[in-house]
Amino acid sequence: MERTFIMIKPDGVRRKLVGEIIGRIEHRNLNIVAMKMLTPTRELAEEHYAVHKGKDFFEGVVDFITSGPVVAMVVEGDNCIKLMRNMMGATNPENASPGTIRGDLTASTRENLIHGSDSPETAVCEIGLWFGKDGMQ
Ligand code: GTP
Ligand code: MG
Repeated sequence: MERTFIMIKPDGVRRKLVGEIIGRIEHRNLNIVAMKMLTPTRELAEEHYAVHKGKDFFEGVVDFITSGPVVAMVVEGDNCIKLMRNMMGATNPENASPGTIRGDLTASTRENLIHGSDSPETAVCEIGLWFGKDGMQ
C-alpha cells in the first residue's frame, strides 16, 4: 500500500476549503492515516522546497507557505501518489483541468491550494520531514 504526503496550503485554510479538499480525498476512498494543522517554520518550508532553491520563485513560495496554518496529511492507498497528483491538477492554472482541485478552485500558480508528493522517493522524504521517521508524529 503506497503513502503520500499531502498539504492543504495557507490559501486553502484562509478560503475555508479544508472540508472541500478533504471531502474529495475521502470520496475517492483514499485513507487519511495522519493529519495535523501547523504554521510551518521557515526552516521546514525551505527544506520542503529545497529542490527549488535558486529558482526565482523560491523566496515567494517559502513566504507563502509560512504565511499561516496549513493542514498536513499522510494519505494511503494503492497508487495514491499518482491518484492524488491527478486529483490536484497541473501547477500551471492554464493546464489545470476542470474536475481537479486546482482546476475547479484556483487560478493562481502560487496560491494553488494543495501540495502532493511527486514520486515514491519524494513521498518517503516528505513524510519523514513533516511527520517523523514513523510517519505518525
Ligand atoms: P507543489 O505540490 O507545491 O510542489 O506543486 P507542484 O509540484 O505542482 O509544483 P512545483 O513543485 O513545480 O512547484 C512548487 C510550488 O512553487 C508550486 O506549487 C507553486 O506554488 C510554486 N511555483 C512553481 N512554479 C512557479 C512559477 O513558475 N512561478 C511561481 N510564482 N510559483 C511557482
Ligand atoms: Mg512539487
